[in-house]
Amino acid sequence: MQTRSYTEIPRVDAYDKVRGTATYGTDNNPAGLTHGAFTTATIGKGRIAAMDLSAAKAVDGVRLIVTHEQTGTLKPARFIMQHGFAFQSYSPVLTPQVAYRGQPVALVVADTLEAAIDAASRILITYEEVPFASALNSKGAEAVPQTEAATAWPIEDIVVGDAEAAYSAAPVKVDGTYTMSQQHQNPMELIGTVAAWDGDHLTVYEGTQSAGACKFGLAEQLGVSADNITVISPYIGGGFGQKNTMQSQQVLTAFAARELGRPVKVVVPRRQVFHDSSFRPATRQRVRLSADSTGRFTAAIYDVDAQTSMHDFFQSEHADTAARHYGYGAFRSFARLVRTDTPTPGYMRAPFEHATAFAIESAVDELAYELEMDPVQIRLLNDTETDIVSGLPHSSRHVSKCLSRGAEMFGWERRTPAPQSMLAENGDLIGMGVAIGLYAGAGGPNRATIRATREGVIEISLGVHEMGQGIRTAIANVVARHLNVAPESVTAILGDTRSGVPQMLTAGSWGSASSIPAAEAACEALRNALDALGTNAPEGSSPAEILTLAGRSELSVNAATFAPGQNKEALGEIDTGHVAPTGPMYPDFVTYSYAAHFVEVRIESTTRRIRIPRVVSMFDCGRVLSPRTARSQAIGGVVWGVGGALREAGEVDERYGGVLNADIAEYLVPVNADIGSIDVGFIDEPDPMVNRSGIKGLGEVVLAGVAPAITNAVYHATGIRARHLPVRIEDLI
Ligand code: MOS
Repeated sequence: MQTRSYTEIPRVDAYDKVRGTATYGTDNNPAGLTHGAFTTATIGKGRIAAMDLSAAKAVDGVRLIVTHEQTGTLKPARFIMQHGFAFQSYSPVLTPQVAYRGQPVALVVADTLEAAIDAASRILITYEEVPFASALNSKGAEAVPQTEAATAWPIEDIVVGDAEAAYSAAPVKVDGTYTMSQQHQNPMELIGTVAAWDGDHLTVYEGTQSAGACKFGLAEQLGVSADNITVISPYIGGGFGQKNTMQSQQVLTAFAARELGRPVKVVVPRRQVFHDSSFRPATRQRVRLSADSTGRFTAAIYDVDAQTSMHDFFQSEHADTAARHYGYGAFRSFARLVRTDTPTPGYMRAPFEHATAFAIESAVDELAYELEMDPVQIRLLNDTETDIVSGLPHSSRHVSKCLSRGAEMFGWERRTPAPQSMLAENGDLIGMGVAIGLYAGAGGPNRATIRATREGVIEISLGVHEMGQGIRTAIANVVARHLNVAPESVTAILGDTRSGVPQMLTAGSWGSASSIPAAEAACEALRNALDALGTNAPEGSSPAEILTLAGRSELSVNAATFAPGQNKEALGEIDTGHVAPTGPMYPDFVTYSYAAHFVEVRIESTTRRIRIPRVVSMFDCGRVLSPRTARSQAIGGVVWGVGGALREAGEVDERYGGVLNADIAEYLVPVNADIGSIDVGFIDEPDPMVNRSGIKGLGEVVLAGVAPAITNAVYHATGIRARHLPVRIEDLI
């Protein structure tokens, strides 16, 4: 394994992106393209009793209206947690059913987008409405113990020792309930599909984190062979989990294109994305945390209620992370899923860890004040080398290093402990807060093909998607270094099912950890194949030089890698569009990535407006392969954490269902004026066990723990403890 740190290179696709030559899914306009728009349900739940299409059909340019009356041949989607491909098992427009407000009920296809939108608004529908429960706290929202929620991968509650007994016997304890609103991710690129049939072959252009799932999932729903489907997704305009599974519009767009014999494009408008895609479930977490008089944690009891839909159980993994924050003496969790009449909630950057960190790290802060201990010290004191759940060692856990280095960079020693003890010259209350965050170090199988030519082309195909996180740049950096070529000469073919390697889901922060080892193995295989040509080329020769000496025009090799504990069966999964992640529990060790965030808040004494002049965050993600894109990912995660703490909430009126603030004017995110500087740093120590490349993953841990660092700072500034996110001005008056 190489230990030398990677040097920084610019993003390899930067010029393409700023010049607009990087082609995103719905940028594609095949000849003869038509445009689709949805009519959406205006009731909270029920069924369609009658539809009057006459006014819609009369709109000039309308070619097709797809309703449940034509879709009988389509199969419903299968839910990812049932070994399927989609974010939910419910497929709108396949039946007259309305499962939630805002779901599509008809798809209108016309020559122009304007005509399609106009006609979609003219469909008259008579509904039969039934009572519904649209939010976590709604009457009729049934809470089901997670252990009774049958899915393909059941999750047990965690029991380590006798937490109840240890908690009741402890001299110091806190008992807090922490709640978080449902949240909606809004990548710049909307959800959308372009579907074009050529005879019986379907080509789909789409921004997706899993071209493989789309290929095999569409085959299933349309009743065609997967061999007849190509999915092309070389770039994604932000994939934070929403695009990690099939979306509702895909099968309908492909169906409409087949019916019409013309390509169809459907771009789901922002308002509809809020209503018919996955979102971060609302949660209610109760943490009981106890310590002995020295501050050592004796027990944590963790109860979580997480929102799910009526039709699926989106499982809660909150407790798995909660159990790994510290070396508690004893731990017990109890998770329930609360069924609501909504789309199935889903993965949204640090899907569980963001909420978990808010609860656990708030409770730790509260306990530190009870004990009159420094919040950094209490965290250092309760670090652990072994995983309390399995008893296995952590392959690497540098969270204490993150805390100490971060504290130093931040200037934590200047903090005076008492709430309201730090005032700025202008009278602003100053608060300083700290929190840690965790994210599982996942891994998985991958296949790679690498091709080198005498002209100096290096082309590598891998099963991973570029969603803006910078994987192309990381791949170029790694391949360039292993083959002694310039990064610019490396082309990575990603997100394209024609590439010959399976395009499995890129998510769970396993993109690098699953694809880079395969890239390295492919480079090694290529090196060996070049050596076998017997050219006796001098040490350090490039593939092009060796091929020239050998009189060969090109050479191509394949490689496949697995995560520890995996075998060829895992390849079978990704070859058929499924996922095969493993970790954080491996046969002999447990792997997580870590963050420590330090935040300064300034709160205006009169208006109580909260601003964040500076954040310092330190990360342990194993080896950093691509310093520039890693830093960018980390800064982005911190910005999101600010939004998560101070802004983000999907507002639901329980009388009607749906989301009221379903646009980015009213679903607030932070702006430049809210945040001053964000300094990020990396421990950059390769993990010795998790994979050959020493990578643990970064994309999600960057967000975990930002929110509690902020609310802990707010407490330090004001003496007011926020146990609900987002915390807003009115909470501090
Ligand atoms: Mo990401 S939330 O794991 O797609």
